[in-house]
Amino acid sequence: MNQDDKKRAAAERAISLLPKDAFIGVGTGSTVNYFIDALAKIKNDIRGAVATSPDSKERLLKVGIPVVSPTDAGRLPVYVDGADQINHVLQMIKGGGGALLSEKLIANWSEQFICIADDSKFVSRFTHPLPVEVIPFARSIVAQTLVKMGAQPQWRMNFKTEHSHEILDVSGLNLDEPIRMENTLNDIIGVMENGLFAKRPADVLVLANDRDTEIITLTSVQS
Ligand code: 5RP
Repeated sequence: MNQDDKKRAAAERAISLLPKDAFIGVGTGSTVNYFIDALAKIKNDIRGAVATSPDSKERLLKVGIPVVSPTDAGRLPVYVDGADQINHVLQMIKGGGGALLSEKLIANWSEQFICIADDSKFVSRFTHPLPVEVIPFARSIVAQTLVKMGAQPQWRMNFKTEHSHEILDVSGLNLDEPIRMENTLNDIIGVMENGLFAKRPADVLVLANDRDTEIITLTSVQS
C-alpha cells in the first residue's frame, strides 16, 4: 500500500467507531479528506458535522453533510482528525495545514479524539517542525524569542490562517517534554496557539500499515 492507500484505509476504519445520530467534529488535511469521502456514504447515520477549516466545510457541504457551528452542535461525542506526527502516548504535532487553532478548540470540545494516520506518522520522538500560530504584529518578536530559546523559526510566507494569523514553522526545540513545551510556547505574548497536542492527546489512534489497520487506545498504552 502506498501512503495514500494507508490514509484511506485509516479513514474508512474510523467510520466504524462513530456514534449514530450525533454531530461529528471533522479535522483538516488529506487524511481527513478521505474520511469525508467515507462519511458521505453513511451521512444519513449522523446529524451533521462541525468543520475545523473552510476547506473541510466546503468538502462536507459538497457531499451533502450539514455543517453547524460549535455553539449549535453542543459538546461533541467525537472528533476525527489526522496528525503530522503522533507518539506512543498519542500526543501529536499538528498544524501542517495551518488549521491548528480551530483543531485544538474542537479537539478540546469533544469527548473523544480519534486520530487517523498512516504508519509514517507514528514516531518515538517528534522531529516535524512545530507550527506556531502568531498574530501578525508579533511575528518578529515571537521569532526572536524563539531564537533566544535555541530554535529556528521559519515564517510560512504568503499564508494566513482562517483567523488571519501567521505561522512560524519551528525547528530545533527540545520536544522531549511535550506538555511543558506546549505551555511554554503558549505563554509567549503574541502566540495564539501551537501545534503540540499533548495536554489533550488523542484517545484512539487508527493506524494503517502495509497490511492492515490497527486500533491503539490511550488507555491501553497507559496501562
Ligand atoms: C492540519 C493538520 C493535519 O491533520 C496534518 O497536517 C496532517 O495532514 P495530512 O492528513 O494531510 O497528512 O493538522 O492543520
